[in-house]
Amino acid sequence: MYLSPEQIQNAINTAYTNHAKETGGANADYIPFLKNVDSNLCGLSVVTVDGQVFSAGDADTPFAIESISKVCTLALAMNDWGQQAIMDKIGVDATGMPFNSVMALELHGDKPMSPLVNAGAISAASLIKADSREHRWSRILQMQSDLTGTDIQISDELNESEQTTNFHNRAIAWLLYAAGYLYCEPDEAVDVYTRQCSTLLTTKALATMGATIAAGGINPITNKDVIKEAYCASILAEMTMEGMYDTAGDWAFTVGLPAKSGVGGGILAVVPGVMAIAGFSPPLDPIGNSVRGQKMVASVAQTLGFNLYQCARKR
Ligand code: DON
Repeated sequence: MYLSPEQIQNAINTAYTNHAKETGGANADYIPFLKNVDSNLCGLSVVTVDGQVFSAGDADTPFAIESISKVCTLALAMNDWGQQAIMDKIGVDATGMPFNSVMALELHGDKPMSPLVNAGAISAASLIKADSREHRWSRILQMQSDLTGTDIQISDELNESEQTTNFHNRAIAWLLYAAGYLYCEPDEAVDVYTRQCSTLLTTKALATMGATIAAGGINPITNKDVIKEAYCASILAEMTMEGMYDTAGDWAFTVGLPAKSGVGGGILAVVPGVMAIAGFSPPLDPIGNSVRGQKMVASVAQTLGFNLYQCARKR
């Protein structure tokens, strides 16, 4: 299906116009930095697998990557270890529970179950091949830069805000360590995981990340080979299973695209082989997904006719 640049831009404009002023939701408040971000910010971008970029609203405003970083670290862990090791050492099934659930661990013998929940993401960070803490961090940061095609940076202020409040994640790390699902020291794993959540990016950069996966692992802006082609399908399947947490099923049921959210208000959806759609607006629903972001991304997908599960009748 050919889509003209005008069709894509119009779809974005409509989604932005209809949803940028949507009320409801609230900024994440368990991380002090996020509580203070302007709730009115709202941006939307599309990047296609041939490198075209379309945007509306605050598409150049940097925001916190948060849980969307879990996709980058999963990609790096897959490059390092391959598919089977991720299944054995972390797991790849949905928990059906909140992203920081300890009960989900209890129910599964302390196996994290998914690299896209906090426990599995801390485990994935610990799995990255590295000979020191700084090496582990620099490899993860490099992966974020390679995927987004930008020189991505940590926010020291956000990192400080998270490192001084992340006690729940530290507890999760020790549970994982006790059960043999952590592959470096707990303190190092949580430190690096917290840093990976504390980088800033724009919706343009986020959509580029998604377009890189959509394009089989080659960044369409830089042409850099970032993820092994064979792993892109698995990453997208995992995003479908757990990318939207407790409402991953609702999202698949209604929108039908692999997606990943973050408590910074970002959301990324991927149309395999075609494009990625990235939205950002800080107010979150009770699950931790951006209220406006979800509506805008769903609107673009529906207007352009993208749903992986659609079954067109022969006419
Ligand atoms: O570890 C945390 O809780 C945060 N740094 C990230 C959580 C997050 O983004 C969940 N996504 N909706």
